[in-house]
Amino acid sequence: MIQPTPALPWTTAFVYALPHGVAVGYHLPEGPDPVDPEILARLTGAERTHAEALRGYRQVQFVGGRLALAVAFGELGTRRAPVLTDEHGAPILPEGLVGSITHKQDLAVALVARGRVGVGVDLEETTRPRPGVAERVLTPRELEAVRTLVPSRQWVDTVVRFSVKESVYKAIHPTLQRYVGFGEVEVWPGTDGVDRIEALVPDVAAFTFEARHAWIGERILSTVRAEPK
Ligand SMILES: CC(C)(COP(=O)(O)OP(=O)(O)OC[C@H]1O[C@@H](n2cnc3c(N)ncnc32)[C@H](O)[C@@H]1OP(=O)(O)O)[C@@H](O)C(=O)NCCC(=O)NCCS
Repeated sequence: MIQPTPALPWTTAFVYALPHGVAVGYHLPEGPDPVDPEILARLTGAERTHAEALRGYRQVQFVGGRLALAVAFGELGTRRAPVLTDEHGAPILPEGLVGSITHKQDLAVALVARGRVGVGVDLEETTRPRPGVAERVLTPRELEAVRTLVPSRQWVDTVVRFSVKESVYKAIHPTLQRYVGFGEVEVWPGTDGVDRIEALVPDVAAFTFEARHAWIGERILSTVRAEPK
């Protein structure tokens, strides 16, 4: 389990070298107050302009994601560059790098790797089971598998599958450029944190996937690498 350092807003929570890239967690402040100009000044010019037009939690999360990316660039020894978003919301990394972002109210996480192969990252809560989620995000086969587990394991297993699917989406959407539904991919969690992806449609099956998940405190962090075959 990865244990983040205690929360001091706008500081690094963790830096972790994962199989799919460097993952950086960044503490966010409580609440949706406008981000302090001193913090905005840590962004590159183009990112700052984008952030200044955002409001509330959206602004806090965007800034946190970009500051986490900046730390990851430093860890990889590459020059800092502005990371804006494409028309679908995906981050546009500088040439030669790939990356992905996820956030919760108090934490932003960026995953960055060298290369051109798509990566995705996602962070999900495990503490509050939400009725109806399993039926919405799992295929009938996955639902059947989850229901064979002891009740205490069912929610966590659902969250792992959900998180990995979100990471898959982030890893392949920039290439596929189409919405991929939760029923188009199955996730088979491994007890060792290495998960198997089964694509149920041809354009998704045209990728080779590697997927993993780990605990960050009481949350699940998933990462995915998707390489066109
Ligand atoms: C896009 C989506 C995956 C984002 O996940 P989320 O849980 O809402 O939010 P997260 O905090 O985890 O991630 C937000 C980040 O995702 C990234 N993102 C948004 N759209 C993206 C896209 N089309 N491709 C890649 N990354 C994207 C952005 O970096 C964003 O952060 P930023 O705006 O600060 O840069 C989700 O909203 C969605 O549409 N899911 C439905 C589709 C799906 O997951 N299908 C699974 C089948 S494989």
